[in-house]
Amino acid sequence: MNLSVVQHRILWVTIFIGCLLPLPYILYQGFSDNLGAEPAKALVEFLGETSIALLLATLAITPLGKIRVIPKLVRYRRMVGLYVFFYAVLHLASYAFLLVDWDNFVEDLYQRIYVMFGAAAFLILFALTITSPKFMLRKLGKRWKLLHRCVYPAAILVVVHVWWQVRSDYAEAVAYATVLFVLLLFRWRVLLKPFLSSK
Ligand code: HEM
Repeated sequence: MNLSVVQHRILWVTIFIGCLLPLPYILYQGFSDNLGAEPAKALVEFLGETSIALLLATLAITPLGKIRVIPKLVRYRRMVGLYVFFYAVLHLASYAFLLVDWDNFVEDLYQRIYVMFGAAAFLILFALTITSPKFMLRKLGKRWKLLHRCVYPAAILVVVHVWWQVRSDYAEAVAYATVLFVLLLFRWRVLLKPFLSSK
């Protein structure tokens, strides 16, 4: 099934606006005082949740592409991937400006080891974002594909980042971990290929 130029543009604009919508939504909630007793925490959490939701969505695009109805979604994967980083930057910025107690930052970090997992995932997402333009693909050749497979370790780090924070209710962390596990099952052959073929 080939998309016409008009269909492609409609889909592009729909996905672009759809991925952007969480931002005005949360700003509106913030300005209307609807973020609960700890608005800064709620904002940081919402931006992190949006980022991981889009991250899992980008990982789902390849398996969904195997289904004949939606094979063309792969064309939009880069856009969604850039949104993952966009929300991760906002998540990090809101954490740095609204939650961090900079006077006790190091002591605080020891109490919140999960932050390091988030930071490691963030660095990978950063590397993927700066190498996402087409000219970087041409420049890096085969290494590009290998680098961009690091999106899977990044997703695992984010799930650990979320899991580690849980104090009582594991529902959200279990949901992310389950979706990621299923997505990894779809891709295990491709992901293990470099290790299996080196023998
Ligand atoms: C340097 C990078 C990062 C830092 C410093 C960071 C920091 C934090 C902190 C402090 C919280 C807890 C907020 C609170 O409830 O008090 C949090 C939660 C969270 N973060 Fe991150 N994070 C980083 C990267 C990421 C990335 C890359 C993602 C997703 C792609 C992410 C997704 C989440 C999610 C989903 C939550 C949990 C929300 C919940 O409890 O519902 N974080 N992060």
